[in-house]
Amino acid sequence: MQIVAPLEIEDYVIQTADFMSPPRWHIGHTSWFFETVLRAHKPGYRVYSEDYLFYFNSYYEGFGERIERPKRGTKSRPTVKETVAYRNHINEQVLSLLPSLDSLPNAETVLSLVRLGLEHEMQHQELLVYDIKHLLCDQFDAPMKPRPQLSKKVEGMAEIERGLFPLGYHGNEFAFDNEKPAHQEFLRDFAIDKALVTNGEFLQFIKDGGYQNFRWWFSEGWETVNREQWRAPLYWELHDGEWMIRDFSGLHPAASKTDEPVSHVSYFEASAYAKWAGKRLPTEAEWEKAACYDSRRNIKRAFPWGDASPSSGNTNLFENGFWSVAPVGAFPEGANAYGCQQMIGDVWEWTTSDYVPYPGFKSEFDEYNDKWFVNQKVLRGGSFATPQLHIRATYRNFFHAHERWMISGFRCAKDL
Ligand SMILES: [Fe+2]
Repeated sequence: MQIVAPLEIEDYVIQTADFMSPPRWHIGHTSWFFETVLRAHKPGYRVYSEDYLFYFNSYYEGFGERIERPKRGTKSRPTVKETVAYRNHINEQVLSLLPSLDSLPNAETVLSLVRLGLEHEMQHQELLVYDIKHLLCDQFDAPMKPRPQLSKKVEGMAEIERGLFPLGYHGNEFAFDNEKPAHQEFLRDFAIDKALVTNGEFLQFIKDGGYQNFRWWFSEGWETVNREQWRAPLYWELHDGEWMIRDFSGLHPAASKTDEPVSHVSYFEASAYAKWAGKRLPTEAEWEKAACYDSRRNIKRAFPWGDASPSSGNTNLFENGFWSVAPVGAFPEGANAYGCQQMIGDVWEWTTSDYVPYPGFKSEFDEYNDKWFVNQKVLRGGSFATPQLHIRATYRNFFHAHERWMISGFRCAKDL
């Protein structure tokens, strides 16, 4: 509710593209998710409104009929006021359920569903940021805090030795089923960029005719470039021959943002850049090893900097309040054992890995992660829109290869 606070009432119901959702839908849908828990597990719970069940369901076949995603912006009811009342009602119902859990036979199940509901809510907090950017961009009055200045140049690649690596989550805290089970994967010697690819570097690719040269692109990527008339990342605009980048704080010459990580690129664009640069994208196992393996001590840490939770001193996540990427080198405290920086926060990083189940995968929640195991690529590390509590080094995000409205960037790798 803090994220949507600066919106005007008209902003809540507009849908600017098939892939985004109106802000009102997010605030109702996250409560709808908790209502499914109440319906199944709260004795005597009565459905708030059949109409809301229809409008606020996203993709769950098991919970009945729903409005198609591209049509979420075609309805003005429930109103924003009604949606907020629904949200308050569901919150009260969940809060009154929790103290009585001990008397329920399925307390464990309910608790794990409530935790899932909170993780789901955090996912939608991040999606809200993407969608508000698409809706309003610099017209949104974001409560931005000042960003750190560039502290140090980060150059070169870290060399990482071959060997078996324990990929995936192994621990006792919350993690999604798609991060488990942890399992050994053999990696060859490889190198990975210490820094994220910047706007300045990406501008060189554009100026070298990267978007006009088929040789850098996958066939499907090249078709997309031509069909969509892509000439630069999303939110880049050409003004009098100069590339400009629009973000929450305004319209800026790309030349003034050369030290910032490039964002809003698709998998197709990241791959084309990597090929042009004589490199490639990392696999998710390579990314995860680079992010949290300490080869001197032969241990896997929870985060690049060690086992402590993320803080605004070592990474740029939503709590930093920048509403923007931070310049490369802004978080030396967040460096890993190999000297790679900003692996957590700033931008989700594309990997070449297909989003498929790990060997031995067991679904823990119906229709949550497992129904998406086809035709998508894995991204790692979180973005400036990800809440601190939500991210882990083993977290697997996933999007289609053409998508770029999310905060997506990349770093390159190469074989040694
Ligand atoms: Fe959802």
